[in-house]
Amino acid sequence: MTHRGWILGAVLACAPVPLVVAELGSVAAAGEQYVPQLGDIMNAAQTRHIKLYFAGKAQNWDLADYELQRLRTSLAEAAMLYEGIPVNNVTMMVEPLSAIEDAVRAKDSRRFAATVAELTEGCNTCHQSMNRSFIVIRPPTEQPFGDQSFAPPGKK
Ligand code: HEC
Repeated sequence: MTHRGWILGAVLACAPVPLVVAELGSVAAAGEQYVPQLGDIMNAAQTRHIKLYFAGKAQNWDLADYELQRLRTSLAEAAMLYEGIPVNNVTMMVEPLSAIEDAVRAKDSRRFAATVAELTEGCNTCHQSMNRSFIVIRPPTEQPFGDQSFAPPGKK
C-alpha cells in the first residue's frame, strides 16, 4: 500500500480501505478497472449522510451505524482514488466520524445531532477548499427515501 494509503487507512480506522481495495480488485480481475467519478462517490456519500441522519433521528442505531460505516468507506474511497484531494481534508473528517460513532453506540440522540452537524461542516470545509463552495451540505429537512422505513424494525 502507498504511504498515502497507509495514512488514510490508519486514520479512517474500521478497515474501510482494504474493503474498498478488495472490491476494486475483484472488478479489475474481471478485465477493466472501473473507477467511479468523484462526483458519483460524493452522491453516494450524500445518500449515506441523509440516511445516517434519519436513522439516528428515528433511533434506529443499527441502521445509523451501518450508514456511518458506508459513509466512511465513501470518503476513504474518494481519498484513495483521487490523489488531488489533500490528505488533511480527509483526516479532518476522522474526529467527527468517531464522535458520531460514540453517540450511536451510546444511543444518545442529542450528541448524535450535534456530531452530525460537525461532520456536515467538514463536508463544506472541504468543498470550500477545493473551489466547490457552491456545493453546500446541511442536515436534511425531508426524508426523500419513501420506500425505506428508518424506524427500528417493529416500530413505526
Ligand atoms: C476531502 C474533501 C471532501 C469531503 C470531506 C467531502 N467532499 Fe463532497 N465533494 C468534494 C469534491 C472535490 C467534489 C467535486 C467533485 C467533482 O467536481 O467532480 C465534491 C462534490 C460533492 C457533491 C456533488 C456531487 C454531484 O454530482 O452533485 C455532493 C452532493 C457532495 N460532495 C457531498 C458531500 C457530503 C455529504 C460530504 C460529507 C459527508 C462531503 N461531500 C465531503 C470533496 C469533498
